[in-house]
Amino acid sequence: MGDPPTLSDGPADRPGEDAADRLVERLAAVVGPRGLVTDPDRLAPHCVDWRRLYQGHPLALVRPADVDQVAAVVRLCRAAGTAIVPQGGNTGMAGGAIPDESGRQVIVNLARMNRIREIDAAGHTMTVEAGAILSEIQDAADAAGFLFPLSLGSQGSCQIGGNLATNAGGNAVLRYGNARDLALGLEVVLADGRIWRRLSGLRKDNTGYDLKHLFIGSEGTLGLITAAVLKLFPRWAQTETALLAFDDIDAVLRFFIAARRRTGDTLVAFELIDRPCIDFVLTHIAGTSDPLDEAYPWYVLVQAASSDPAAGLREALDSLLADAMADGTLVDGVLAASEDQARRLWFLRESITESQRLQGASVKHDISVRISRIGDFIAEATRRVLEEEPGDRVVVFGHVGDGNLHFNVCQPPGTDPAAFLARCPAISRIVYETVADFAGSISAEHGIGRLKRADLARHLPAGDLELMLSLKRALDPEGLMNPGVLFDDPEP
Ligand code: FAD
Ligand code: MLT
Ligand code: ZN
Repeated sequence: MGDPPTLSDGPADRPGEDAADRLVERLAAVVGPRGLVTDPDRLAPHCVDWRRLYQGHPLALVRPADVDQVAAVVRLCRAAGTAIVPQGGNTGMAGGAIPDESGRQVIVNLARMNRIREIDAAGHTMTVEAGAILSEIQDAADAAGFLFPLSLGSQGSCQIGGNLATNAGGNAVLRYGNARDLALGLEVVLADGRIWRRLSGLRKDNTGYDLKHLFIGSEGTLGLITAAVLKLFPRWAQTETALLAFDDIDAVLRFFIAARRRTGDTLVAFELIDRPCIDFVLTHIAGTSDPLDEAYPWYVLVQAASSDPAAGLREALDSLLADAMADGTLVDGVLAASEDQARRLWFLRESITESQRLQGASVKHDISVRISRIGDFIAEATRRVLEEEPGDRVVVFGHVGDGNLHFNVCQPPGTDPAAFLARCPAISRIVYETVADFAGSISAEHGIGRLKRADLARHLPAGDLELMLSLKRALDPEGLMNPGVLFDDPEP
């Protein structure tokens, strides 16, 4: 733990706007002119979320250059009773990084804290600042001869602090786990401005509660993550990528079992894509083409990779695919013949989110169920959604290996988007009630943010919510860290 908080001396705050101006002056004195943004044009991209669901109005955006500045900013905001909204790359799907409309909250963005502090070759770890962009971390690991396996479609702009704060999942969870599994240590500025440092990078440490896990997945409601120690892995010596077509989900699951049995630990990704997703991408994303000659109801993008140059992945996949074709499990597919072809198949997969945004109004659900129940869930949730409005379009993709489906519903073609958006809460209610009937989770990897806090309150067991609120009160008694995220109205 760092030093106890101290506040810089200064004249007492005057009420109302004067107090706000005074806080902005004090923040500027801490972070300097490069670190403070109040100009509306420069603020604009930080005030709306990626999905354009939330529009906020902050007092200021603060961009500290180091952890001491972050701590000083938190202490100043606390003294002024001003709420802080941590923001990373602002790619979140649940509106957790956007301030409210009061004009009184301060956004803290760590983009200037983006250094790779250390790579420890023997320990297979890297220590990074929280504002580092995910793809830059991957590149730095690669340049040092290692793999950092967290991989998301937003990796060119999301920050590792945001990844840890949301416990991001992505495309390689099946083999390497989610962000939580990839973190060995954290540095966090607590809600009272103290700095909690646990960057030893120990692989074994059973000294009581593992406190870093409180902050991972807490979506900025308990503190600001300023640095992390991440796990590194041996770099891949070979990878194989295939896009495969199936007639139904039962066949997808049969193939998943066979693929795991026959490719073992080399199976990295097993990504489900339905035909409407492909249609959306082909319609809206330039440079894409239909991967197979015919259209099929379901596709899976499979990736296998190994650090062993003699692993024989090509032969293993060839024989797996041949057997699946022979017994009728698999109906068509392409095994990428080059890195370029593999990249194009991944581009198709990674363009789904953007193509869905361009397609029109839609409601997204990031749910998980037991892998064995995926087929039954899709059938039942689809039946219940279409029973209400047969014209709606169900669009499904996701990470089958994690039981994580993006079960989305889009507006019927040619209809009024506003009318569809008005029905979205009712659609979500149907989907989440189905999730509950399947003993699943309403948020597998995107988090709760502002968007799903009412759904969380509805679906979390009462005891769990009470425990979470106790932790919130203990670590942020004044309720100044990202209020309105996770919980509807946390009582301080
Ligand atoms: P932001 O959106 O800025 O913030 C997210 C939350 O974290 C907010 O609550 C914010 O307050 C908090 N936060 C941010 N930084 C900090 C910090 N330093 N300390 C404390 N709290 C902080 N997500 C997945 O899980 N899997 C995917 O496959 C995936 N694919 C995506 C594809 C696309 C095209 C897009 C646009 C998004 C995708 N996402 C995915 C969602 C998103 O990228 C992740 O949630 C990501 O982890 C958010 O990181 P960020 O830096 O953008 O965080
Ligand atoms: C994905 O898997 O592509 C992401 O989680 C983003 C999304 O759900 O749109
Ligand atoms: Zn996803």
